[in-house]
Amino acid sequence: MSTPSPIPAAAQAAASEHCGRGLVFIEVTDRRGSAVWKAAGPKGTAALKVGRGEGVEITAREAAALAALAADYFVSGGVTHGAAWLITDWLEGPSTWEVFAPVRADGTGREQALAAAADLCAAVASLHAAGWVHADLQPSHGIHTTSGVKLIDLAWAWRPGWDQGTEFNGGMTHLLSPELAAAILTGEKPVAVTAAAEVYALAGTVWTCATGTWPLDYEAAGINPKTCTPHELRQHIATGRVPVTADRPWPELQDVLLPVLLADPANRPTAGELGKMLESL
Ligand SMILES: Nc1ncnc2c1ncn2[C@@H]1O[C@H](COP(=O)(O)OP(=O)(O)O)[C@@H](O)[C@H]1O
Ligand SMILES: [Mg+2]
Repeated sequence: MSTPSPIPAAAQAAASEHCGRGLVFIEVTDRRGSAVWKAAGPKGTAALKVGRGEGVEITAREAAALAALAADYFVSGGVTHGAAWLITDWLEGPSTWEVFAPVRADGTGREQALAAAADLCAAVASLHAAGWVHADLQPSHGIHTTSGVKLIDLAWAWRPGWDQGTEFNGGMTHLLSPELAAAILTGEKPVAVTAAAEVYALAGTVWTCATGTWPLDYEAAGINPKTCTPHELRQHIATGRVPVTADRPWPELQDVLLPVLLADPANRPTAGELGKMLESL
């Protein structure tokens, strides 16, 4: 059991201003230098993220990105006494992973899942249209609300010219396109995350939601992902020779996603085009 990270007074005050006095904090996650609580009070609910140690810079950058993007769910953020914090409206709704739960369980709920996948693509497409990439897309980072998909965990969100920090390593390793894995291995900063690399992660996210496993079949390539370091995994991914898993629980959907995972970056569809392809299934 980890010790719950304390909430800085300034963050408590900001949460209280937004949610009302007498609010309660419920811990959601606590990992890798940052913790998230759900704050609930008489005036509303919010998500409070607090970064400490190496998480200070990352959390501060996430708050700055939310502000730069004018995200309608961003409330406030700050840095205080060795901690950075940010408050967003609590987004009501399932993550993409959760929307796909019936699909993974028994193949039901496909219509809803396809609509959700298309909505996720639309949210990514509009981020790209604004000149940004999320750079850490994952099954849990799209929240499907009644007013569309909201992308969370924007710590690595980037546009050319934006401070990326020194710790960026491509976001979720299992969803790294080969060319992005190769770019990270060079050690050069900033790592230019292209919309095409993000479309790979987007297709990989939907693949993972549908199948329950990451897209690449490491074992088939003689790789044990549990004993590999992330650096070694990136080296394998960068070769482009790790095959995609052979499991086809939803062939029609996977027939759309597979070519995206296999294509050269220049031949991948845009996020918007991928969304349209999913919609027409
Ligand atoms: N605004 C929000 N609304 C609802 N849930 C949220 C919100 N922000 C974070 N969460 C929840 O907290 C979890 C962790 O948040 P995330 O920003 O991904 O932090 P981490 O850096 O720990 O991955 C998310 O997967 C989600 O369940
Ligand atoms: Mg996250």
